Order: sequence, then C-alpha cells, then structure tokens
Amino acid sequence: MEIKSKVLVIGGTGYLGKRLVKASLGQGHETYVLYRPEIGVDIDKVQMLLSFKEQGAHLVQGSFNDQRSLVDAVRLVDVVICAVSGVHIRSHHILLQLKLVDAIKEAGNVKRFLPSEFGTDPAKMEDAMEPGRVTFDDKMVVRKAIEDAGIPFTYVSANCFAGYFLGGLCQPGHIIPSREHVSILGNGKEKAIYVDEDDIATYTIKTVDDPRTLNKTLYIRPPNNILSQREVVQIWEKLIGKELRKSTISSEEFLAAMREQNYAEQIGLTHYYHVCYEGCLTNFEIGDEGEEASELYPEVEYTTVEKNDNQYYRKFSVPVIGLFTFAAAMEWGAWKVQANDVKPGETRLVPGLPEEMAITYWDLKRKKLGPPDGMGRIPGGGGPPEPGDKPPWVSEN
Ligand SMILES: NC(=O)c1ccc[n+]([C@@H]2O[C@H](COP(=O)([O-])OP(=O)(O)OC[C@H]3O[C@@H](n4cnc5c(N)ncnc54)[C@H](OP(=O)(O)O)[C@@H]3O)[C@@H](O)[C@H]2O)c1
Repeated sequence: MEIKSKVLVIGGTGYLGKRLVKASLGQGHETYVLYRPEIGVDIDKVQMLLSFKEQGAHLVQGSFNDQRSLVDAVRLVDVVICAVSGVHIRSHHILLQLKLVDAIKEAGNVKRFLPSEFGTDPAKMEDAMEPGRVTFDDKMVVRKAIEDAGIPFTYVSANCFAGYFLGGLCQPGHIIPSREHVSILGNGKEKAIYVDEDDIATYTIKTVDDPRTLNKTLYIRPPNNILSQREVVQIWEKLIGKELRKSTISSEEFLAAMREQNYAEQIGLTHYYHVCYEGCLTNFEIGDEGEEASELYPEVEYTTVEKNDNQYYRKFSVPVIGLFTFAAAMEWGAWKVQANDVKPGETRLVPGLPEEMAITYWDLKRKKLGPPDGMGRIPGGGGPPEPGDKPPWVSEN
C-alpha cells in the first residue's frame, strides 16, 4: 500500500491555508496544523481549528517567536507546507519563513518543503516594477535560503486566484462581477490564468509525494482557464444574457492613478499591471525546471471559468432598482456619497442601493474623462452632471 507523507500546514486558518488542510485530509494524509498563541481571541480561527480537529487533523502549538516550537512541530512530519500571508492589502509575512527554513534545517527530517508562493513565479519577475516587486523579491529570498540549506522543495505557481480576479472581471478593487459596466485594462487581450482556490489546494497536495515535482516548480495552468479579460467578460455576459457597457483604462492612466494610492494598494495594482497589461503569466514556456499540474494530474476535474462565474450568477441576486436606470443610479449615488472626495482605492456604499452599485474611484475617474467623442459637459450649461453634482432630475424639495 502507498504510504502517504505526514503533512504540516502553517498558516492553516488563512484564505488558502484552510483549503490546504481540507485537501490534505481529503487525500488521506495525516495532517498537522500549527496554531499560534498570537491568535489571541480570534474566535473564527479557534472555531476553524476545532473543525479541523473534528475532521481528523492534529493541532500543534507553535510560534514564529519560538524557534524551538517550530523545530518540534516540523519534526512530527515529512512534508511542510507554508501558507503565511503575502498580500499587502491583507498582510505580508513572507520573510518570517526564514525562521521556518532554519527550523527545517535543524530538524533535518523533512522530505519536502512548499513555501508560501501560490502566485506569479517570482523567478520570472526580475524586472518587476516598484513597489510590487517586494512580493517577488521576498519570495526569492526564501527560495535562496531553502536551496542554500539543501532542503528538498516544490514551488507552486498558482497564477490568479479565481476569487480575486474572476469575481471582479479582472478589475482591481472589485470582487463581485457587475451586471452593468466593466473597465477593460488596456486592450483587454493579454492572456492570464485563473485557478479556483480549492483546485490550487488539490494540486498542491497531489505534488507532495510525487517524485516528478521534487525540486521543481509546479505551474497550475488549466488549459480552458487561460483567457484574456475580454474573454472572461464574454463568459459572464453570456451567463447573464446581456452585454456590459465597457470603458478602457490605458496603461498610462492606470499607472498615473496607481501612484496616487497608498503603498499596499500600489503593490496589488503593480501585480495587476504585470498580469493584465504585460501578460507576465503566459509569456513564457515551462522549462525543465517546471511541471504543469493539469498534465501531471489529468484526473482532477478543475473548475472552469464558466463554473466559477455560475456561482456568482446563482448566489448574488439581481439588483432591483425599480425604474431607476443604471446611469441615473450612478448620478444619484455620486451625489449622495459626496463623490468629490472619494479617494483612490476607496469604495463607497450608496444608501438605498445594493453593494454591487458602490461608487469607486475608478467609476468617477471614468466619468471625469468624459465620453470619447468629445461630447463633454458644457460649463455652466447642459451635459452630464460632474461627480458629486446634484442630478438635474432630483426635485428641489
Ligand atoms: N495568486 C494570487 O492571486 C494570490 C492571491 C492571494 C494570495 N496569494 C498568495 O497565497 C499565499 C497565502 O496568502 P493568503 O491570502 O491565503 O494569506 P492570509 O489568509 O492573508 O494569511 C495566511 C496566514 O498567515 C499567517 N499570518 C498572518 N499574519 C501573521 C503573523 N503576524 N505572524 C505569523 N503568521 C501570520 C496566519 O496564520 P495562522 O493560520 O497561523 O493564523 C494566516 O492565517 C501568499 O503567498 C500569497 O502571496 C496569491
């Protein structure tokens, strides 16, 4: 009988980590989850840990502030998977893993380490822009430490998490697909790769005992999910039976607006830029240093973009705004939320309208640019209201 490695998941209550725990248990691995005293009174995490325990996981206490506890934890298992945070708008602790590398080196028993990567291959991002390159640089620092210590590894390049990218039709700052309008980034034709987060976990766990992925990068490239933004939008339009209004954001506009944002937002936007304007996920062939997940594991029925979109279609109700048109709703919303002071990166809910109709900086930016045919607002006269103006159809009383 095939002997399955014992797996320790670190960062197991995180967005990806909880899926890794589930997949490890589901694929029959004896699964250990590190829990940190620092979680304090985070009741959601405690409940999640209890549910892991009920599903058969072992809970091991440990902390990045206590090196001995890390060594003791990794000594219990064959494989260590780390999923600590690495998205600045949530939190970013990639370099904490240097302590884990030291612990794995000291313990000396670990057959494979999968560090927290799960995105763009950092080895392909030497020319990435500031400030977003910090993500890739930090991940490369961890890789170097792993390789210098002679620790066997697999790096997982999971490309775009579906929840972040498909949910917003590839628009930064949006994670629920609109039924009215979409901003197309550049020409919208650069191909990216979208992977359901549960599938990322399934493929990741499949690699842990697979000699074909030892000391290699696993690229997750489900063939039907390699699509441009325009193709993603078309799939959604087909599902809702309606064409969205479209505007485009040139690379110059995108970069100029990006520079007005705070540090964490800029990092995320830099990543969107490389993916959507430059096609950084698909502009290279996988070489000898890598393997492709759907080729190695054809038995995995991965989630297609259509299936992913379908959940939004079924689970989010159609916004009902009576006789209000979308344009009227936007004018009313921009006035109600005092749109003139909406900051870059901010999304403001509009009283009386569903969350999907929240006003974003991008909505206003688009309005300000005016229609491409030059039919802009006539100063002091007709034309569409400026963001924040009272719509002309609202009565004085
Ligand atoms: N490709 C993409 O589109 C994409 C999108 C998102 C993320 N990612 C990548 O996926 C990986 C995981 O990200 P995620 O979004 O799943 O992470 P997350 O949910 O933000 O955080 C994961 C875990 O990090 C640990 N953590 C957070 N702050 C910590 C601290 N101060 N000290 C120690 N541990 C701390 C926590 O572990 P505990 O469970 O112990 O509390 C937390 O559950 C990252 O490498 C990230 O770059 C990729």
